[in-house]
Amino acid sequence: MSLRCLITAGPTREFFDPVRFVSNPSTGKMGFALATAARQAGWTVDLVAGPVALPEPAGVVLYPVVTADEMSRQVDALFGACDILIMTAAVSDWRPKVRHPEKLKKQGQALTVEFEPVPDILTTLAAQRRPGQLLVGFAAETEDVEANARAKLVQKKIDFIAANSVAGPDGAFGAETNRLIVLGADGFRQVMGPATKTVLAQQLIALLLQHLTVHAR
Ligand code: C5P
Repeated sequence: MSLRCLITAGPTREFFDPVRFVSNPSTGKMGFALATAARQAGWTVDLVAGPVALPEPAGVVLYPVVTADEMSRQVDALFGACDILIMTAAVSDWRPKVRHPEKLKKQGQALTVEFEPVPDILTTLAAQRRPGQLLVGFAAETEDVEANARAKLVQKKIDFIAANSVAGPDGAFGAETNRLIVLGADGFRQVMGPATKTVLAQQLIALLLQHLTVHAR
């Protein structure tokens, strides 16, 4: 099957002045491993990545972005052409309400930054998907991993969610290995790993291909 896959990876940065931002420890490894695995499966791959320190996977078109807003606009532009969207990016859920044009001066006082919610990219796209498009999310949880991920699967109206724990020193952010609980909207459930992110990526791509093949019949 000749498929076009859109993958997001890495963190986003949300600035409150030109040199300061809030972000998270996502390294982009899982998304980049998925891009490589999808390419190896013969798919055409667009990879939209926040700031990461990883080499560009061979044969993949990389679109570097910084903020959630930039990621949203880039993904919007590519979504219509894709058969599969896999959102591994740890998109910021909040951003500072104000981005000061000049660097804030420290004067020994406390700083209060007000945050506003960032629109959920997956939820927005799920509402405008065309028939046959497969949408996959990731859920990074610190507790009740499976229950929280299942709630997100339903809320976001997507086809699959891969849940992983980011709690404690063995959490998924930046680690070489991971354990995923993959949940499907049709009741599917499979635990993958612990295994390297390369192996997990290959297993997840194989699973999605199998799902598409069955549903294309
Ligand atoms: O709700 P939560 O942020 O935990 O959901 C994680 C999933 O939602 C990931 O697939 C992530 O890429 C996606 N997401 C998004 N837009 C946001 C925040 C998260 O698409 N603003």
